[in-house]
Amino acid sequence: MKSIKVGLLGFGNIGRGVWDILQTNNTTITQNCGYKIELSKILVQSHRDRGIDKDLFTTDAYDILDNEEIEIVIELIGGLSPAKDYILRAINNKKHVVTANKAVIATYGDELLGAANKNGVYLYYEGSVAGGIPILDSIRESLAANQIQEIMGIINGTTNYILTKMALEGSDFKSALAEAQAKGYAEADPTSDVEGYDASYKLSILSALAFNTNLPVENIYREGISKITPIDIEYAKELGFVIKLLAIGKQGENSIELRVHPTLIPAYHPLAAVNDVYNGIFIKGNAVGNLMYYGKGAGSLPTGSAVVADLISILKKMSCKYSAPTAISDAQKNLQSMTATESEYYIRVMVKDIPGVLGKIATLFGNSAVSLSTVIQKGEGEPVVSLVFITHQTIESRVQEAIEKIKSLDEVSEIANLIRVENHYKA
Ligand SMILES: NC(=O)c1ccc[n+]([C@@H]2O[C@H](COP(=O)([O-])OP(=O)(O)OC[C@H]3O[C@@H](n4cnc5c(N)ncnc54)[C@H](OP(=O)(O)O)[C@@H]3O)[C@@H](O)[C@H]2O)c1
Repeated sequence: MKSIKVGLLGFGNIGRGVWDILQTNNTTITQNCGYKIELSKILVQSHRDRGIDKDLFTTDAYDILDNEEIEIVIELIGGLSPAKDYILRAINNKKHVVTANKAVIATYGDELLGAANKNGVYLYYEGSVAGGIPILDSIRESLAANQIQEIMGIINGTTNYILTKMALEGSDFKSALAEAQAKGYAEADPTSDVEGYDASYKLSILSALAFNTNLPVENIYREGISKITPIDIEYAKELGFVIKLLAIGKQGENSIELRVHPTLIPAYHPLAAVNDVYNGIFIKGNAVGNLMYYGKGAGSLPTGSAVVADLISILKKMSCKYSAPTAISDAQKNLQSMTATESEYYIRVMVKDIPGVLGKIATLFGNSAVSLSTVIQKGEGEPVVSLVFITHQTIESRVQEAIEKIKSLDEVSEIANLIRVENHYKA
């Protein structure tokens, strides 16, 4: 049996997971790929005892990147720099690369895939989206006969944990976040997760494969969950919905929609049952119909599983003739502007409890051609009460126009929240 030398950049959470999987599942992996995998060098920042042969470790990346014996490099250091330069160096040295780095792939994926193509090597990145869920490979291979019409994903475990705590235990955002931090699910600076940046990176990677696009991640509409309150969650529940941070991609006639924001989904939707740190991805293909993927979206072994699977895929392909593996697209697609997006809307308005206010607001919605499906008032007798409106399907610009007019009414103290509703799923 041939043996193959692999270099590992990074030995943190995921690097350690990859090591453990290669030890534990050694026999299965060898059978699956037909090679004996030898992890011959591991890059770290500093030398310390890590419980394995210390001669394996180096702090010089070029011991791996320029090592002629190493044929495959696994990048697991994270961040944009120096990770991107290391990946490019490995590719230009004709090494295949596996990474779980969503930031690098979402930002430089096109350039790196182009370089991989030019050099006749593979660049795989299954672990970069939804950890252990094999979603990229599914889109690339198993769903290749479909036009993907829609993707809706809970692809950030931290925010899903926070929203689950808020929904099931009535916690407010701050205390749910503090609990997520205490459990190690959220970073000390939680901005990337909580404000939806992490999910937009992943949506960018998903949409490149699913919709054959090449759009900058900054162009994706993004809203986080920090404005969601227990009151909104309660109202949503009363109306038969749950609130989730969704990454949404939809293929339209001439444009695509890409957006990340908190969303009301019906309580019977499969995504509504995805709780805690779990991820779920709902996909609609024009041939296969609706599909739902569910699993651990992060963590050492689940993500390590995706990384090692990429490694095995490359090894299998190495024994065949090379064929361009990756979705590199120069397709110019229009990204639909957020104001042209259609949705239903949940809008919570804080108003003075005086007669006629509901009528005035309803008229302003009507004047902007926004039709209402549900209205709830809570807190009768208090000086300021909540009015909650659910609209029928309408265009975002109409809702924004109505909101501007409603805000200026003397009786309105604030627009407490506006959350989009995805309500077209039929069980
Ligand atoms: N954690 C997850 O659940 C998860 C899930 C999906 C994807 N990912 C992705 O997987 C990648 C790795 O994440 P992780 O959680 O394993 O990170 P981590 O625990 O912070 O580990 C990073 C490793 O890289 C090494 N390193 C960092 N910067 C370096 C540099 N400039 N030069 C040399 N070595 C460097 C560190 O060395 P030292 O050990 O010496 O500090 C450490 O071993 C990231 O791209 C992340 O986004 C992570």
